[in-house]
Amino acid sequence: MEKVLEQIESYKKEIEALAVKGAKELEEYRIKFLGTKGIVKALMGEMKNVASEQKKQFGQVLNEFKQYAEEKYEEWKNITANGQPSTASDIDLTLPGDPIAVGSRHPISLMRNHIVSIFQRLGFAVAEGPEIEDDWHNFGALNLDENHPARDMQDTFYIHTNPDWLLRTHTSNIQIREMEKGKLPIRIVCPGRVYRNETISARSHCYFHQVEGLYIDENVSFADLKQTLYFFVQEMYGKDVKVRFRPSYFPFTEPSAEMDVSCFICGGEGCNICKHTGWVEILGCGMVHPKVLENCGIDSNKYTGFAFGMGVERPALLKYGINDIRLFSENDVRFLKQFTSAT
Ligand code: PHE
Repeated sequence: MEKVLEQIESYKKEIEALAVKGAKELEEYRIKFLGTKGIVKALMGEMKNVASEQKKQFGQVLNEFKQYAEEKYEEWKNITANGQPSTASDIDLTLPGDPIAVGSRHPISLMRNHIVSIFQRLGFAVAEGPEIEDDWHNFGALNLDENHPARDMQDTFYIHTNPDWLLRTHTSNIQIREMEKGKLPIRIVCPGRVYRNETISARSHCYFHQVEGLYIDENVSFADLKQTLYFFVQEMYGKDVKVRFRPSYFPFTEPSAEMDVSCFICGGEGCNICKHTGWVEILGCGMVHPKVLENCGIDSNKYTGFAFGMGVERPALLKYGINDIRLFSENDVRFLKQFTSAT
């Protein structure tokens, strides 16, 4: 034991006398003292020869030596890497910092913001609501009672712990919640994510995004609906765009319509996007069904209103020339960093 302690002391002196300068010397030092077959390892092997009542003292001395040898190594490593030891005073605080990469907005957010901002200019406020919804707000209040066949149109995800809960299939639930508050008139747009149990492919996904709108006041007419949406498409697709309304069916609006715009890709001449019809369907709309108003405690003799709803994915695909809807949810930075502006 005494002998080993003396040895350690002499190794320490040896290190103290060293002045390692180059990378080669440093590596030699590392191998000699700290390597797998080095002195520190060898000394540790001596532990088994030390009498058990002396193990503690030996362990302490050895540990201190090991720390000392490692500290010296770090110190010399800094000197060989930087030409001088690193201390706080060596840091040049006047150097410009490394720029922090700024993220970009998701193309769906850009398109949603763009759509919402057009309606905001007409005085629509943004309203939001829950994605996990009860049957009443997603279906019942919207005139889709339990056995309504139109429920099949929206393949619903139910939450199995409670059959009354589901993932909303449209953002119309927000409109119901706003109407229930009873503060009139109402003029809102409702952006948000919605869920439908559809097979995931390049064209469809089990979740997507919508912007729906609702306007309720006295004397709101179909002419107001048309003019509002006409303003919207002109802002969105340009002044030359033509629109047409086709009669349609939604349980919560009467009358109901679907709105097409002349194809903004081919200008109406016919292409793949418009399937050679010259028209692209962009939204569903209609006058709010009196039953829906009554379901929310609004007097349908005094108030009327219109509603509309559109998807966000399709205009974003068309605008940015993206051919696969799955790219929106893959979080691939190479894809995401390309988008900077909605206009
Ligand atoms: N909620 C309908 C859908 O998701 C869209 C819509 C909203 C249609 C409002 C008419 C009026 O398909």
